[in-house]
Amino acid sequence: MLPDIEFSEDVKKLVDTFYDKVRQDDVIGYIFNEVARVNWPEHLPRMYAFWEFLLLSHDTYRGNPLEKHWPVHEKSPFTAEHFDRWVALFQQSVDELFAGPRAQDAKFRAFAIAETWKPKFSPTYGIGQPGKS
Ligand code: HEM
Repeated sequence: MLPDIEFSEDVKKLVDTFYDKVRQDDVIGYIFNEVARVNWPEHLPRMYAFWEFLLLSHDTYRGNPLEKHWPVHEKSPFTAEHFDRWVALFQQSVDELFAGPRAQDAKFRAFAIAETWKPKFSPTYGIGQPGKS
């Protein structure tokens, strides 16, 4: 039986597994490798901190993750397909390594955040809303 996500090391393992998939992925890999040219030794610790904050309620992350995506999106637009792929790779990584309430929570949180963000990256976002055109 697979363990649940319990310790900081578990979060680290999950994030490492996820980004191994992301980096090699045909659908979203290029955004990280070629568009953002992610500095992995800098990015990974921020992602450990982010997920540890969400999943283990440790006081590890402060920041506005959504904002970090705008400059990348401006260079090469994110699509709904990109978000769906991101979530699928994240959920696969969870299922390979963990099972239990926190594992379920991780999968749900990834899905819920992606679904909230997805429309904000749509080319038609804000059209018809007061104050937008
Ligand atoms: C289309 C899907 C997504 C793509 C292509 C994407 C790509 C990226 C890229 C390129 C960065 C910048 C890395 C750097 O610092 O150079 C980043 C940062 C980040 N992303 Fe995403 N992302 C996606 C979805 C998500 C989602 C759904 C979440 C949350 C559940 C998320 C959480 C974060 C966080 C926490 C950071 C770091 C923010 C910081 O530095 O404080 N991303 N992402």
